Order: sequence, then structure tokens, then C-alpha cells
Amino acid sequence: MTVYELQEKILKLKKETNTAILAHSYQAREIVEIADYTGDSYKLSVDASKTDAENILFCGVHFMAETAKMLSPEKRVFLANKDAGCPMAEQMDKELISQLREKDPDRTVVAYINTTASLKTVCDVCVTSSSALRIVKALDTDKILFIPDCNLGSWVKKQVPEKDIQLLHGGCPTHAAVTVAEVKKAKEQHPDALFLVHPECVPAVTELADYVGSTSGIMDFARKSDHKEFIIGTETSIAEHLQYECPEKKFYPVTKNIVCRNMKLTTLPDVYNALVGIKDNVQNYNSLEIIMEDELIAKARKCIDEMIRLGG
Ligand code: 13P
Ligand code: SF4
Repeated sequence: MTVYELQEKILKLKKETNTAILAHSYQAREIVEIADYTGDSYKLSVDASKTDAENILFCGVHFMAETAKMLSPEKRVFLANKDAGCPMAEQMDKELISQLREKDPDRTVVAYINTTASLKTVCDVCVTSSSALRIVKALDTDKILFIPDCNLGSWVKKQVPEKDIQLLHGGCPTHAAVTVAEVKKAKEQHPDALFLVHPECVPAVTELADYVGSTSGIMDFARKSDHKEFIIGTETSIAEHLQYECPEKKFYPVTKNIVCRNMKLTTLPDVYNALVGIKDNVQNYNSLEIIMEDELIAKARKCIDEMIRLGG
């Protein structure tokens, strides 16, 4: 069967089962093409809360599907590949954060959305890469503990020096692996290109950027820019999608190694099989239905609601 034939079957099944497909922009082109909603983690969490579909099928990583479930508990939410987790989301321990809160109760705990629902229960407000700066500025407190990504946290801290922002040692292994040497090499190879980078990269790398932003931020910047060449400092899919959308411009991944293995676990057959599972009401071997206790949803959702209240 060709990719196109499989996509046609998916579109048909999607309608039959009243399912909305949400795909993070790090997914492969063939998945993005059959999705109802695509974008960064903030946009997808809002899209999930607005869709009228009965079922949500998430092509991304576990914490994203969990966020969708928390925002739409009445819907059935499925992750297309059950093994797709985000290593950063699992990095911090709920007990450690609870202890830190007890020691310093005046400090507001700001959690990157790349955290488990369980960890969110001991945090005050969530942020995404597109909203972190805005939300930290908007908080009516100066004492903040920012978890888990110390690179995103450092980037925010640098721009809000008036606030006392504490960081812990966590982060994205994919983005943190990008080196200054790789950036310099890419700049030498493409001297006319602008360097657009995700704030999950280390400070020495973001300092070399012409623009720092979320996946959607990077894509919007490149689409609107009059510039013709861009070095992309985030997952290689973003350079691929942009190249497809803007064939008159040139996009170069900063290094070919900037691939999120977890995001890339989901395949088009996974999407098809997950929809067959929804149709037949059987657990598909590769997908996962997100089941969460009401109490966990109620406790963890507070910091997501706070993020939305503060304007995402
Ligand atoms: P965005 O919020 O930019 O989508 O980032 C999510 C993510 O996991 C980046 O690695
Ligand atoms: Fe997690 Fe990094 Fe992959 Fe994003 S790129 S999903 S932060 S491991």
C-alpha cells in the first residue's frame, strides 16, 4: 500500500470514528498531512480543549496526550504510540519538589509543560516554550523555582533579571546536545543564513541565535521573514516542514543529529492501527488510551488552567 492510500484510509476512519488527530510539529510530514491540528505544545493543548470530536488521537509524546486528557476529560484520548515518552518530563521527582516547597513556601513553582501530570500536582503554574517569558513576567511574585529545563529557565532568567529565579539541573537531551562548534560550522557553511533556535538548547548556543522561540515561533518567524536562508536549531522535522511550505527559501538543520527519537517513534501505520482500535473498541497493541483518576486531573489541571488564565 502506498503512503497516499494509507492516508486515505486514515482520513475515512477518522470521520467514521469522530476522532480529531493532533500532531506535534516534530512528527513526520506524512502524519502532519492527515492531522486536524498541528503546532507547538501550547497550541495543541488549546486545540484539544476546543475540538468537538468525541475522540482525540495524539501523535506526539505522553505528557502532551495527558495534557489533552486533562483539558477534555469527557473525551477519550489516545497516544498513537504507547512508547513515545519525553525523557525530560520524567526527570524530576514529585517528592523532591514537595520538599523544596516546604523549605521555601514563598517560592512559586513554575513547571514547563514537559512534565508528568503527577509532578504538575505540586506545581503552581505551567508554561510552554512560547509562553514562559510572558508568564514569568506576568506572575505577581519575584521568587520562582523553574523546573525541569535549566536551559529554558536560563533563557527566561536572562531576560527577567529583576526576578529571583532558581533552576534545577534538568533538560532535553536532544536540544542540549547541540554544541557551539556545530553552530559555528553551520554558520560557516551558510554565511547568509539566520540562526533560529529553540530555548531548550544550552545558553552558549542560544546566545548565537538571531531568533529564539518555540517550534511554532520558529516556523512563523521563518515564514514571515524576508530573509532567504535559515539554520534551524530544533528537531530536524521543522526544517523539513518549512522547506516543504516555503520552497523559495532554504532551511538547514543545525546538525543532522538533532532528532527526537521519541517523537519519531510514531508511524503512519500506528495512526491507522490506533483508529482501527477506536472503531472496534479494542486496545490496539501499539496505541495507549490515557486513563487518569478524576482526583489526579483535578489537582494537576490547576496549573494548566493558570497558564491559560495568564494568557498562555
Ligand atoms: P514546543 O512547546 O516548542 O512545541 O516544544 C515542545 C518540545 O518538546 C520541544 O522539544
Ligand atoms: Fe522531550 Fe526533547 Fe523530545 Fe521535546 S525534543 S519531546 S523535550 S525529548
